Amino acid sequence: MASGTGKVEPSEITIEKLDDKHDISSFQSYEKELVDFLVEDALNNQRQKLSVTFLWFYDNKLASYVTLLNDKINLEGDLKAFFREKDIHYKSLPALKIGRLCVHDNFQRRGLGKLMVLFAITQANEICERRSGCRFITLDAKRNEKRELDSIHFYKKLGFKILKERRKGTTPMYLDLKAPQ
Ligand SMILES: CC(C)(COP(=O)(O)OP(=O)(O)OC[C@H]1O[C@@H](n2cnc3c(N)ncnc32)[C@H](O)[C@@H]1OP(=O)(O)O)[C@@H](O)C(=O)NCCC(=O)NCCS
Repeated sequence: MASGTGKVEPSEITIEKLDDKHDISSFQSYEKELVDFLVEDALNNQRQKLSVTFLWFYDNKLASYVTLLNDKINLEGDLKAFFREKDIHYKSLPALKIGRLCVHDNFQRRGLGKLMVLFAITQANEICERRSGCRFITLDAKRNEKRELDSIHFYKKLGFKILKERRKGTTPMYLDLKAPQ
């Protein structure tokens, strides 16, 4: 199917793990830091085993990417109380982190952001089923002063909660994979 403006169907997407054969120079986003990460750091971080980046192609064009890594949440406050009630007394619990997630400016609002979050959730559930424990998805959401609705709103809409309120910089958020979505 040719590029359009409607919602992108999962069957129209090809997902590839980043490698040195990919041409990522055409990727554009209003969040320049996320372009810089993809172009300058993503492959090197992958080689250093710090993260894995997945490129999403639509109609043979690089439409978005998502970077994943392992993480943990330190249990404090309400979250600590929540798990104490369940007789879970660990100081921290395992998580999969969305390190970076970005949709090319030409493909905004077509469902790719949401599909990439669902992809991360699927990865985390597969890790749990087959490899090791993973209770949460975590991320640091970017605040964008120039936009009325920034990525914090986007993630809240998908069920994420704020871990710690911060006035400046990024806001840590999480999704409990066992909570009803
Ligand atoms: C934020 C971002 C990932 C959203 O991706 P997208 O593909 O445009 O969003 P989707 O089309 O999947 O939208 C999913 C839902 O969130 C809503 N949404 C999208 N962007 C939103 C935003 N900025 N604020 C609030 N809601 C938003 C959509 O209306 C949609 O709701 P619906 O399912 O009820 O229709 C994308 O704008 C982006 O890459 N921004 C720059 C990089 C960035 O901020 N990344 C996050 C860094 S942590």
